[in-house]
Amino acid sequence: MTEKLRVGIAGLGTVGVGVAKLFANPDGRLNEKLVLTAVSARNKDRPRAIDFSTYRWFDSAEALAADPEIDVVIELIGGAEGVAKNVAEAALGRGAALITANKALIAAHGAELVAIAERTGGKLLFEAAVGGGVPMVKALRDSVAGCHAKSVAGILNGTCNFILTEMETGGRTFADVLSEAQRLGYAEADPTTDVGGWDAAHKLAILAAIAFGARPDLEHVRVEGIDNVTLTDIRMASKLGYRIKLIARGLVTAEGVAMQVGPALLGMDHPLVNVSGSLNALVADADPLGQLTFIGRGAGEGPTAASVASDLIDVAEGRAAHAFGRPLAQLAAAPRAAPVERGRYYMRLLVEDRPGVVAAVSDRLAHEEISIESFLQMPVHEGPFVPIVLTTQTCARAALARAAKAIEDAGVVAEAPAIMPIEESRNRGWGA
Ligand SMILES: NC(=O)c1ccc[n+]([C@@H]2O[C@H](COP(=O)([O-])OP(=O)(O)OC[C@H]3O[C@@H](n4cnc5c(N)ncnc54)[C@H](OP(=O)(O)O)[C@@H]3O)[C@@H](O)[C@H]2O)c1
Repeated sequence: MTEKLRVGIAGLGTVGVGVAKLFANPDGRLNEKLVLTAVSARNKDRPRAIDFSTYRWFDSAEALAADPEIDVVIELIGGAEGVAKNVAEAALGRGAALITANKALIAAHGAELVAIAERTGGKLLFEAAVGGGVPMVKALRDSVAGCHAKSVAGILNGTCNFILTEMETGGRTFADVLSEAQRLGYAEADPTTDVGGWDAAHKLAILAAIAFGARPDLEHVRVEGIDNVTLTDIRMASKLGYRIKLIARGLVTAEGVAMQVGPALLGMDHPLVNVSGSLNALVADADPLGQLTFIGRGAGEGPTAASVASDLIDVAEGRAAHAFGRPLAQLAAAPRAAPVERGRYYMRLLVEDRPGVVAAVSDRLAHEEISIESFLQMPVHEGPFVPIVLTTQTCARAALARAAKAIEDAGVVAEAPAIMPIEESRNRGWGA
């Protein structure tokens, strides 16, 4: 019988404990070819849901990663720099397998880590870094590998999706839902990475790299969060027959790959429109495959540990191949393009409640040759300003932005107009 591979877990928080629970299950498949031997966290005395006293304990995660008696290192600490990066470099540097759920690390340093792995024969796997329990990495890397990927679009941040869903179903404000999500532990104490769109951007950079055969290129993801989405937007979008979602999209254009994260109004026939609460989903479009949709639980102990377990089994079965689907030398140096921003848009304005204001708005839009498709006013409002929203016919976002600036300069609005793209159906997206 061949020796079992010895596994060490660095980081015993939500995901680390979840993985240890899978090892503790005597009927689980993990123990067939692998054995958990070592663990590390910051504080040995912290009470945890699993008794770790029977495993070798490392005060230093880096020392665990460097230990030659550990064949597979699982990094579950987090962060693009510091200990997590040191752990990854130490494990790969000595030719071990490194499994991580750390999207920030892979988005920022994925190519460097692959270079180390290629030099030493180490293996790098990160299924859990994107989509929690949904096998997005494997699907794009393995199942779509023989196709020509044209676009990937997803709901990749469960916290944002939870907030937007609660705002819609409960009629609650962004701030109200966010503070509840923080109280319940769904959202981080510092929510900037999630609500600012950065977590989704990390995941998009990874997915786009795999789908389009390029190095991860976080710097060129255009990122907008959901912090400016108001209850008015949610309600008005609903009246117009849309639902607002934070969409991460990578698209192949004539110039290269365009990557963008931002809130958008989805038509009710859009494949992502019914992805609610903390669910994650991805729609990949490839020739000659057509569209594939993946949906499932995007975070949490169980789903994320399940993805780590699937990477563990790939290592045990000798299936771990190129982390981004191809050798580094074959990955393009991230050909990048600006997102093609042309389509239909939603605009919210807080205008003075007096005659002539709507005409002033229409004039500025007409000056940019933008046609209004629909126009809605909030039925009830207080104070001297009234929220109005409009949707445009197809136009360039740049022209709409110029019109918005002109409206602001005309002094008829209390704040800068808010703009969001409209995605009509599966056949139309940003720039499509
Ligand atoms: N939670 C999710 O649903 C989820 C989903 C997908 C991906 N991820 C990713 O998975 C990773 C882990 O997330 P998590 O939610 O499990 O985090 P977490 O609950 O905050 O746990 C982090 C763990 O890392 C340990 N740690 C922190 N600094 C350390 C250091 N310097 N040396 C050694 N250990 C250290 C902590 O030790 P102590 O316990 O002693 O403080 C803790 O056990 C992150 O990259 C995250 O982005 C998480």
